[in-house]
Amino acid sequence: MRSLKTFLLGVFALLLLLPAAYNRVVHSQTQKGDPPTGQANVALADDDVERQCSIDTEVTPCLRCPIPTEAPTGFDDKTIDENFVPQEKHDAHRATFEVRDEILPDGLGPVYNAQSCAECHQNPVSGAVSQITELRAGYIDNPCDPWGYDCPQFVDPPGGSLINDRAVDRRVDPTLLVANIQERVPPLHSAGIDRPADVATTRTSLNLLGDGFVEAISNQTLLDIQAKETNENPNVHGLAIRVPVEENRNGRCRIGRFGHKDQHASLLSFSGDAYLNEIGITNRFFLMENTSLGRSVANFDFVPNDPNLPCDDTVTPPGQRDFCGEDNERDIDTFTIFMRATKAPPRDRVIAATQDAQEGEKMFKEDGCAICHRDTIITAMPNTVINLGTFTVPPALGNKIIHPYGDFLLHDIGTGDGIVQNGGPKTRFFVRTAPLWGVRTHTRLMHDGLSLTFAANTLPFASAIKRHGGEAQFAADKFFARPLSEQRKIVIFLESL
Ligand code: HEC
Ligand code: HEC
Repeated sequence: MRSLKTFLLGVFALLLLLPAAYNRVVHSQTQKGDPPTGQANVALADDDVERQCSIDTEVTPCLRCPIPTEAPTGFDDKTIDENFVPQEKHDAHRATFEVRDEILPDGLGPVYNAQSCAECHQNPVSGAVSQITELRAGYIDNPCDPWGYDCPQFVDPPGGSLINDRAVDRRVDPTLLVANIQERVPPLHSAGIDRPADVATTRTSLNLLGDGFVEAISNQTLLDIQAKETNENPNVHGLAIRVPVEENRNGRCRIGRFGHKDQHASLLSFSGDAYLNEIGITNRFFLMENTSLGRSVANFDFVPNDPNLPCDDTVTPPGQRDFCGEDNERDIDTFTIFMRATKAPPRDRVIAATQDAQEGEKMFKEDGCAICHRDTIITAMPNTVINLGTFTVPPALGNKIIHPYGDFLLHDIGTGDGIVQNGGPKTRFFVRTAPLWGVRTHTRLMHDGLSLTFAANTLPFASAIKRHGGEAQFAADKFFARPLSEQRKIVIFLESL
């Protein structure tokens, strides 16, 4: 009898363990663990890795907390605070952000998207947004296992999901007959890639103005927002994901907040990633050039990919790493400090003062839009240590009130592009709530730029609000149940942001 019991228990335990074991097998077919290069161009294949990565709360307790003050706003190229970054320096930092990199001497490419940060972040001033989109693509593998674990699984094309739009076409050794290295969404038959991509998407550029304040939001504040949202409406399930911070890769994480997939948590990490992936400049976080869909780019690389190129420490103080690749002047630090000192996008005061816009704002809240598009967030106290111990919030960025009209969390509103970055398989169809500050300067809406109006439905493309399904369906339903005269007022409010 006892042996039968033991046997049955054994079978039961086996049944419990099987799905986990199956899950492992599925995972082992793709990369497992941390994204190997740390760059958000590589899909994380295991949700557990993300979920289990520990974070700091980033809260400084205070007994009599000082009253927070409004963050400065403006499209005026001005620093947020002379004591933090003097104007003269801010102008110099902006100039670096605007510099066009060349093949020689800078090391542009060999695969790249544009020659300067400002090329894609400029409307109406450097650091803002633009109409430029880029490409991501990938494969779907492993149809669901019987337990429905993490499936189907997203898999990167060779070299990562970012498909660079431009490539150097000058050969270092012109006698070497090698095909050019232009990437495209697979298939690329001549490169031996016959399998067509299963998913492909455009991704719009994003506004960077005011991102220093976003970086200064504590992890705990984002987790509190996550908990609050579901209380405010049970359909809403904001997802905060944990991502590595390049400046301190110690196996711990921070809540991601930058990029359409919340793929980064710090502006320095994003700068390193963007310098490599957008412009093709290797730097101390990412010392290896991107391949062209897995093919070597060596014969197009005029600044040899020497991971031992030392940093020029006369330019800025030494960091934790000794080798800077093609970024020996540590431009990534300059981009970071530039973004941290930018003012947040301002409202259009004339439109905001109209009765229509003000009534529209009220209805925007009534319809539940503001549950995700949150109008007020307060940054961490000055002197709070963030980014895994690598940055201390200065008075210019701390305890500030911002109005991002976003929550920096991921949601499934039915628009997801099917691509996984470092949030793990569960984030395939999740997109970050688009922060609506500065949205009046965006002409192509939603992460793919495919919505060309806020709400008009008479044109052959879907408007941004019409595409809100899933978690946001309830809000879109309320919006479209309103008479056109009221919908118009909500749109006028959006036009003031
Ligand atoms: C070819 C166009 C292009 C160039 C050049 C470019 N970016 Fe971007 N940037 C984008 C796009 C597109 C996104 C959104 C990416 C995504 O999430 O898929 C983005 C997002 C960002 C973000 C996240 C902003 C936020 O609030 O979420 C930061 C920070 C950033 N870029 C910094 C930079 C820096 C610094 C440079 C220069 C090294 C740069 N970018 C160059 C197109 C570009
Ligand atoms: C459940 C959360 C949620 C709710 C509720 C919600 N949104 Fe959104 N909103 C999002 C997400 C996520 C995106 C980005 C989707 C994408 O890019 O695919 C977005 C994008 C947008 C955009 C496009 C902005 C841009 O820069 O591309 C507009 C405009 C917008 N929402 C307006 C509204 C309005 C108006 C309402 C209320 C009727 C609303 N949203 C309700 C989550 C939400």
